[in-house]
Amino acid sequence: MAGLFRRKSLDLLLGEASDPQHQLRRVLGPVQLTMLGVGAIVGAGIFTSIGTAAAGGGGHIGAGPALVVSFLITGVSCGFAALCYSEFAAMVPVSGSAYTYAYATLGELAAWLIGWDLILEYAISNAAVAVSWSGYFQSLLAGFHLRFPAWLGTDYRSAFQAAALVAKAKAHHVALATLGGSVLHDAQALQSAPRLFGLPIIFNLPAFGIVALVTWVVLIGIKETAGFNTGLVVGKLAIVLFFVVLGAMYIHPANWTPFAPNGARGISSAAAIIFFAYIGFDAVSTASEETRNPQRDMPIGILASLVVCTVLYIAVSIVLTGMVKWNKLDNAEPLAAAFSDLGMRGTASVIAFGAILATTSALVPYQAGQPRIFFSMGRDGLLPGWAAKVHPRFRTPYVTTLITGILVAVCSSIANINELVDLTNIGTLFAFALVAAGILILRHAEPERPRPFRVPLVPWVPLAAIGSCGYLMFELPKVTWLRFFGWMAVGLVLYYFYGFRHSRLCESRPATKSS
Ligand code: ALA
Repeated sequence: MAGLFRRKSLDLLLGEASDPQHQLRRVLGPVQLTMLGVGAIVGAGIFTSIGTAAAGGGGHIGAGPALVVSFLITGVSCGFAALCYSEFAAMVPVSGSAYTYAYATLGELAAWLIGWDLILEYAISNAAVAVSWSGYFQSLLAGFHLRFPAWLGTDYRSAFQAAALVAKAKAHHVALATLGGSVLHDAQALQSAPRLFGLPIIFNLPAFGIVALVTWVVLIGIKETAGFNTGLVVGKLAIVLFFVVLGAMYIHPANWTPFAPNGARGISSAAAIIFFAYIGFDAVSTASEETRNPQRDMPIGILASLVVCTVLYIAVSIVLTGMVKWNKLDNAEPLAAAFSDLGMRGTASVIAFGAILATTSALVPYQAGQPRIFFSMGRDGLLPGWAAKVHPRFRTPYVTTLITGILVAVCSSIANINELVDLTNIGTLFAFALVAAGILILRHAEPERPRPFRVPLVPWVPLAAIGSCGYLMFELPKVTWLRFFGWMAVGLVLYYFYGFRHSRLCESRPATKSS
């Protein structure tokens, strides 16, 4: 039993990070860290999931114009979690993020579970971002009157679900136009798909392709230099602001009434979806070892990127629900569609192009981050040695990079975006709650340890983080919970048969109970 709770001491972690052989260059300051955060945060959530959150779909009830309240609720919940991440990132400025923090505080079993769980936050979320990329890519082509074959632009499940909706609408003599563009597109995929032994062939080729490309970039180690990232992020912010400013001119206040058509249920359900749009501020903490003054700059980077995005998101939600009637928003490219519905095809293409850039840059940190988490787990002995292999020429963890690439590319080409988003959210919310619990435990176990940044009002803020993450988790559909339990159960079995027996803490010394 003691083995399950053996901890990697904070001093050991800090010692590993200061080993000159493995030291990274400390070059990042507060502005670059904030840019890094915004780069990871702004992606499919604000460009695609926002539509489902407003209109409902995929087992969720839409918030309607009250979507702005959902964004506020989720922003505040993430604020509690961000404060907890800030305390850890300033106190333990080593890469590895939640996995490392859990290893230091909650013990090996929790660290394994978080590491396993982070696959949902990194790999599964990237599959969703790639599907969003594909939607905007097809929308951009359509702007140039180029039609991408529908059967190569969606997934099997979405196509079947859409065909069922169309059949139902026909049976009830409902006008097909009310179903929305995405449903008609996906239903058409099933009709037009070539067949192999009678089975329709349907998969999302652009999503697969963009993941393959990003994997290649990450594999050969083209470093996103801070300057390059800053350029992309400025472009991303510019396109979101462009939407807000131009869109504000086409607001019809009548669209805001009724404000909350589905009441509190709709607001909560939407809050659980758009949580996806906020994921990424925690990724700032993975750059701890490359930060000049992590004790001061980590909290700034984490909190500032969250605040910038919260303000932007609130503006986008107000404008979008003012431009388009809320129940017409369940669309794969809602921000571009808001303009093309007005006949402004050129503007829609600009937005689609901006969304493609934004989602491409959002793919990189996760596609690079996931192999590094596997790498840390491999180095700790919780995964086999090949996970910690570094390519002799590229100096990147190439085995885990390739595995991640294949996993994400396959998922993105065959899975439904709403289901991917829900699974990502439940996994990430669970990780946030565990990090908050880690703060409480460490305050108790090591009250004297220097804390350059302290979460205010302990225990209330960490408890609020745990409570609000739990609330958002309970708003997710039942099937998401079943998938989450299944995923974690597989993780436990793997830990029992492998990690527990091969952990380096187990080999090198008897179980350490504390640092
Ligand atoms: N927050 C990231 C996005 O919305 C995951 O794409």
